[in-house]
Amino acid sequence: MKIFVAGGTGAIGRPLIAKLLAKGHTVVALTRSPAKAQALKDQGIEPAIADVFDADAVKAVVTRAQPETVIEQLTALPKTYSYESMSVAAALNHRIRSEGGSNVMAAALAAGVRRYLRQSIAFWAVPGTGLADEGTPLAFDASPAVAAGAREITGLEQPLLENPNIQGIALRYGFFYGPGTWFNPDGDVARQVRQQQFPIVGNGEGVWSWLHIEDAALATIAAAEEGNSGIYLITDDQPLPVREWLPAFAQSLNAPPPPQISVEDALKTDGGADAVYYGVEMRGASNAKAKRELNFQPRPLEWIEQAKLNRI
Ligand SMILES: NC(=O)c1ccc[n+]([C@@H]2O[C@H](COP(=O)([O-])OP(=O)(O)OC[C@H]3O[C@@H](n4cnc5c(N)ncnc54)[C@H](OP(=O)(O)O)[C@@H]3O)[C@@H](O)[C@H]2O)c1
Repeated sequence: MKIFVAGGTGAIGRPLIAKLLAKGHTVVALTRSPAKAQALKDQGIEPAIADVFDADAVKAVVTRAQPETVIEQLTALPKTYSYESMSVAAALNHRIRSEGGSNVMAAALAAGVRRYLRQSIAFWAVPGTGLADEGTPLAFDASPAVAAGAREITGLEQPLLENPNIQGIALRYGFFYGPGTWFNPDGDVARQVRQQQFPIVGNGEGVWSWLHIEDAALATIAAAEEGNSGIYLITDDQPLPVREWLPAFAQSLNAPPPPQISVEDALKTDGGADAVYYGVEMRGASNAKAKRELNFQPRPLEWIEQAKLNRI
């Protein structure tokens, strides 16, 4: 299949285009950078140079490529994961995903693309007991950044899922870990954990759903090849509360145990109510649909496996 990937040079884009190529697909990848275009060419991938904010240029490269499928993984997220850096990045990230994404979608529709997949997010379902599934309402009334995120993904998913002229698939990914992510041993969260700057809030009951970046790529390819229109939660099998994953992550880094702060103190930090959401309120996500329809088989979270081995 011929597949056009926007965001193919990012953290998920890199393993995604490599695996698409290995499976025999023809890949065209969008980049703004001539240097990255050359690297793509060296890898056997056809580069398409354009800025997503330039609607005409995007239309021209997608029309020239004539793909059957478009996969959109555009972001403008920082290398650091802090309240400050995420707040600074939020406006551009929103614009890349909404305006940039609309330009890619319009180009795909104009070129007669059959199927369109886009990156979405698994961690903003309304808090509650048990795991969220694809039908669980989003957290529109949660803390400010979470509620804004819930509105953002609705705005990104709806035009895709409701368009009768294209098969739309929204991939709501869990927290990425693995090479190139904040949670890799060389990533920003690992640095914060080593410096004891990433605390457990309250009782650490917030449940995080994880996803290795290579599994994200594999699930995306399965969805491109055989997915049905609609939403898929793409997360691993073992959503874990912060009080379990964070000490194990610290141990895997040979870092000291994470500090603990009360909900009251967390509310006084810059992260405020958002830090409390991620620390004690967030709900895990179920990957049952992805397992059933995409035969998704995610790997176990590596630092939890390591912690189990250490206990033997
Ligand atoms: N679910 C999750 O946990 C999740 C989801 C997404 C990201 N993240 C994290 O965020 C961090 C950054 O990751 P990332 O891979 O998304 O960011 P990244 O490495 O900066 O990649 C962004 C991608 O978007 C493209 N792009 C951005 N602006 C563009 C524009 N104006 N025109 C055309 N293309 C544009 C870039 O292309 P060029 O630079 O080649 O032009 C690149 O391919 C990582 O730590 C990652 O784990 C986490």
